Parts: sequence; structure tokens; C-alpha cells
Amino acid sequence: MPTIQDIPRAPGGNPLLGHAGPLVRDPLDFVSSLTGHGPLVRMDMGTKNVVVVCDPALIRQVLLDDRVFDKGGPLFERGREALGNGLITCPHHDHRRLRRLSQPAFHPNRMVGYAAVMTELADDMASGWRDGQVLDVVGEMMALTVEVTVRTLFTDSLPRATASQITDDFLVLMTGFFRRMITPPLLNRLPSRGNRDYTRAIERLRSTVGSIVAARRADESDHGDLLSALCGATGPDGSPGRTETELIDEVLTFLLAGTETTAATLSWAMHLLSQNQEVERQVHREVEAVRSGSRLDFSHLGELETTGNVIKETLRLYPAVWMLTRVTSADADLDGYVLPEGTIVAFSPYAIHRRADLYERAQSFVPDRWRDASVVQDSYLPFSAGARKCMGDRFALTQATLALGTVVSRWRLAPVTDEPLRPSVKASLTPRRLRLRVTVRGERPVGRDSAEGSARESEGE
Ligand code: HEM
Repeated sequence: MPTIQDIPRAPGGNPLLGHAGPLVRDPLDFVSSLTGHGPLVRMDMGTKNVVVVCDPALIRQVLLDDRVFDKGGPLFERGREALGNGLITCPHHDHRRLRRLSQPAFHPNRMVGYAAVMTELADDMASGWRDGQVLDVVGEMMALTVEVTVRTLFTDSLPRATASQITDDFLVLMTGFFRRMITPPLLNRLPSRGNRDYTRAIERLRSTVGSIVAARRADESDHGDLLSALCGATGPDGSPGRTETELIDEVLTFLLAGTETTAATLSWAMHLLSQNQEVERQVHREVEAVRSGSRLDFSHLGELETTGNVIKETLRLYPAVWMLTRVTSADADLDGYVLPEGTIVAFSPYAIHRRADLYERAQSFVPDRWRDASVVQDSYLPFSAGARKCMGDRFALTQATLALGTVVSRWRLAPVTDEPLRPSVKASLTPRRLRLRVTVRGERPVGRDSAEGSARESEGE
């Protein structure tokens, strides 16, 4: 039977560094180019072989067999340093128990309360902008999603100093994440400034969250927040749920999983609307009709079809989680090749989502494609699939839809430059230095407004 060495090797590798060069230089271009080399392609990261799966049916096979294709690979090794054994990073043998214990946190009954926090904070943010202001979009969206996660996790606002300490440490952690994922482990252990900051941020984050968790466990009332749901969950026989360490791991997991991903999605959506004024107008008309003068809330979601489709299409073009990995826990057969135990297997939702043979006008922003339910196909994977599918998908879609609707109801969005926007590819896919000018609806735009007919990017219609 063919072995891993028989899988075609990706071009552009170097004997010493493997494919780290093209991966660092232009990771999106590199992973997209691999889909032209067959269903499975081999690349090298340092001394390790990585099998990149380029065929949606084989990706499903990998995702559905989460016992053999278990969590693992460089991203998860870095993840465990920070998150311990939380839901995202835990191996298969711990997963079912931890997932069941988190289920109550995402019960539909709780979503109504979370949605109220989401729109309140989005409204506060959008009402603080000035007409003509140029926004640092990612910074604004990151501040919003961190605050939403902190408020839905902990209900009562934390002391300002604690909340900003959590945010600062968390941002250091996110910055170090991708760098440490692609650099050899030896470099990660050097006493460099970056490594020291990273370690210190993790330690402080765990200790801050530890104090919050300990205080909450001492107080048994239900605060209606994510933390109460996590603390209150018990095993099937009423046995205690998580240990204190597991609770800290899970709180950090929710913080990490939910903030940068949702902020990136919202930022890309705002960028795409600024380039596609007709879609922006449709979203505005829809939001105004649905909210009829009041603040958006959970009950409006079903009617926000166009706004929801903008988010879905944004996640197709710019899936925040652009690359995922697994490690085989036993010898495995994939597409007729034997992958020995310990093989790293990867796939890229970004590359799959942009394949012309899977999506019509694959590079274009076409939210309306989602009106046709049959388009929802196996090759749409922004939240992954199978038992390890994102647990916060509803939470994320709710937040992104309500926040985008809230922004568009007040402001028109316009680019401030014709320069093409470049993605910043770290742990998640984020627009690099995205600036947009906001102008009040119904008034003449201030300064440069390419609203009608600006130069469009390749994805612009
Ligand atoms: C647009 C925003 C988001 C995107 C694109 C996203 C994407 C993903 C993806 C792709 C995975 C699967 C990882 C894998 O298969 O290895 C995942 C897992 C997970 N996500 Fe999300 N996520 C988002 C928001 C959220 C939010 C808001 C939360 C929580 C509040 C969350 C919590 C989780 C958890 C707990 C898991 C682990 C699930 C498990 O293994 O059982 N995510 N997410």
C-alpha cells in the first residue's frame, strides 16, 4: 500500500526549513496553490511531514473520525501551553465529557440574554463614533468582542483594571501564537523578549481568571452568564463537573475562541460592505424595516436574512480559522495511503472556500448565493464539522449579525484608500491596518467618499 512518502510533495521547499519560507511569506497563496496538486499533498514544517488534505470529502472523513484524527499539530501544542486542556485543545478521550459540561452555556434560552449584551455594547460603540471619523476597524471590533465575551462570561463588569489586564495579556498571547506555531520549538525556549512576554502573559491571565473562578465557585447563585453555566454543570450522575483548573482552561478557551475570530469576521464584513454599496444599502433597508426604531434584539434574527447572508459570505471569503490540523492517534488509511501514527494532517477552509470548481464566482462577494439553501454544501467549513465543530457558532453568528446591523443602521462605511487590503495571517485571518471612514446616514459624506464607484478589490462585485 502506498505510504506517506508516495504523496506528492508541495513545490518550493527547502532542505533545512521545509516549506516554512512560503508559509511565512504568503500562507494563503501557498495553501491555495496546493489544491492544484491533487487530493493529498505533502509539505514539510521543520523536520515534520504534514499531509494537506485538499478534497472536501476526505476532509469530512478526517473530521468525522475524531478518534483517529485527533487534535494535535503545532497550533494545538501552542494552544495547550495557554489553554491547558480546554474544549478546543483536549484530546478525544476527554472531549465528550467536557463538551457535555459546556452544553448548558450555549442553551438557546441563554442566547436571548447574551444577544441583549451584544447589541447594547455594539450600540454603545457605534454611538461613540463621530461623523467623518476614520476608524481603526480591527481595534474597534476587537474591543467590542472582548467586552462582549467578558460581559457574557462574567455578567457583572469586572473592575476596569482587571478587564484591561485580561485584554492586554490576551493580545500578547494572540500575537505570540502564530509565530510560535511556525518557528522551531528550540527558538520558542530562548529567553527573548517576545518569549518572556508571552510566558508572563499566560501566567498572569491564568492567575487573574483563577481568582474570578474561585470567587464564583464560592457563590452558588446563577448569574445567567457563561461562567455560571460552566460552574453549575454536573456529570450525568450528579457528580461534580469540572475541577478548578478545568474551569480556568475553559474560560480562557472561550475568550480565545470567541474574540479574535468574531472581530476578524466583523472587520472583513465592514470592509466588504464599504466596497459593495448596493449590498450595504440592502442591509440598511432590511435593518431599518426590522427594528422599526428600536434596538435590534434576538427576536429580530430570523428576519435579518440579508445581514446574515453577508456574514456567511464573509466567512466563506475570509474564514477566521483559515487552517486546521489533526494528528493521527493510530495508523490510518486516507485515500489509499497509510499514514503512520503521529502524522500531522492539515486542511485550509480558506483554500477550499475559494475553489472555482466548488463555488460559482468563487472569488466574488455574493451574499445572495446563500438564499439558495442547496448551496450549503460539504465544502463550507468556517466552523469545521463533526464532533469538534465550533461550539460557539450560534453565539458568533448572532453577535456578528446584530453588531453589523447595528453599525449599518447608523453609519455609512467608506474606504479611505484605493490600496488593496492585505490580510494579516496569524492564528486567525485578519485584515491588516483596515481603516474606514464612517459618515452619518442621510447626510452628505465627509471628505473622500468612494461610496459610489471606488476602485474595487478582486472580490468586489
Ligand atoms: C466567527 C467566529 C468563530 C469562528 C470562525 C470559529 C471557528 C471555529 C472552528 C473552525 C473550530 C474548530 C476547530 C477544530 O476543528 O480544530 C472552533 C471550535 C470551537 N469554538 Fe469557535 N469559532 C468562532 C467563534 C466562537 C465563539 C464566539 C465561541 C465561544 C464563545 C467559540 C467556541 C469554540 C469552542 C469551545 C470550540 C471547540 C469545540 C470542540 O472541540 O468541541 N467559537 N471554532
